[in-house]
Amino acid sequence: MKIYQNYDLSKLNTFGIVVNARFFIEVRNEKDLVELFVSPEFKNNERMFLGGGSNVLFTKDFDGMVILNKLKGIKILNKNSKDVIIRSMSGEIWHDLVIFAVNKGYWGIENLSLIPGTVGAAPMQNIGAYGTELRDVLENIETYQIETGAKRVFKNEECELGYRDSIFKNKLKGKYFIFAITLKLSKIERKNISYKILQEHLKKNKIKVKNPKDISDAVTHIRKSKLPDPTIISNAGSFFKNVFVEKEKLEELLKIYPDMPYFEKENKRNKRKNGSKASVLVKIPAGWLIEQCGPASPRHGGASGTSWKGYRIGNAGVHEKQALVLVNYGGATGKEVEDLAEQITASVFSKFGLKLVPEVNLI
Ligand code: EPU
Repeated sequence: MKIYQNYDLSKLNTFGIVVNARFFIEVRNEKDLVELFVSPEFKNNERMFLGGGSNVLFTKDFDGMVILNKLKGIKILNKNSKDVIIRSMSGEIWHDLVIFAVNKGYWGIENLSLIPGTVGAAPMQNIGAYGTELRDVLENIETYQIETGAKRVFKNEECELGYRDSIFKNKLKGKYFIFAITLKLSKIERKNISYKILQEHLKKNKIKVKNPKDISDAVTHIRKSKLPDPTIISNAGSFFKNVFVEKEKLEELLKIYPDMPYFEKENKRNKRKNGSKASVLVKIPAGWLIEQCGPASPRHGGASGTSWKGYRIGNAGVHEKQALVLVNYGGATGKEVEDLAEQITASVFSKFGLKLVPEVNLI
């Protein structure tokens, strides 16, 4: 296990930000991990575990140790006439796991096709797309407690999976390393075409869903048409989370903005704990809110216009087809992207009184 110093991370974050890590190592197996946990460079420094680097914005050099997860392996543990239990090591590419399942005809993660990043990052933020979330299929997560090196298995219910959220982003932040996850998929048809955009795509293209690959192909097509390919234009997917508001707040906003889109249906798990009807939360797409706002005054170097959508300042910008995605056209610093994000947040707050929260991790 080789420890590198002042290691260039620009190819290891999909935002393509040029920064260095003071120390850097790759872990390829559990033996590497055990060695890592006792090494002084690990023990005495701030640490960051990196998977695909697809959900992070580096705003400065990382003055600690970056650990790149290269733990590989996908295995079917068990199957019966209905279900399949699959275990994947955390360093696998998420989409490779989707393809593995889809090619075998197993239902459950086809709607999560083409999400960038690794398997280990998936439970951290409970990845979700087109009406499905990881929590719908997750059985358990195998971890190492970082301080003690002890193994611990978390069952789905123990992971506190919420909208782009988990216990590992909150009270257990930095405490556990995820080394494998186990999913329960279905051999029996279990299609989820509840998401309107997916439904419309299938209808328009006269696609009759016969197997999970049909859905995977459709989702891949939609994603490619809307989201910039990070290998061409650097980005980290949705930069902000969607916004959830109480129904009362929604009604106030609808009086002023009758065209504002909102979604109730998908949101069954976002009820408050007391479950009362009055406290049901409604999702407002942050992409729409951003599209309705724009820069306070067109700045030198920035395109003028009223909307953030397609706006560019220097080398940073807002994607022209999806306002939720910030992009680096090449050479932007993390700080430039962060400044743009702050201006967007301020403008949305000033117009709608709603606070945008980043989905990416700012380091
Ligand atoms: N919209 C706009 N303008 C935009 C973008 C979106 O008005 O520029 C509105 C439209 O009303 C549209 C609605 O937002 O109908 C929803 O848009 P879309 O289906 O593109 O999804 P999203 O809510 O913007 C979320 C996830 C995506 C995921 C899609 C599909 C978050 C933060 N983002 O985006 O996830 O792919 O749904 O399920 O929840 C990611 O996390 O990196 C990501 C790309």
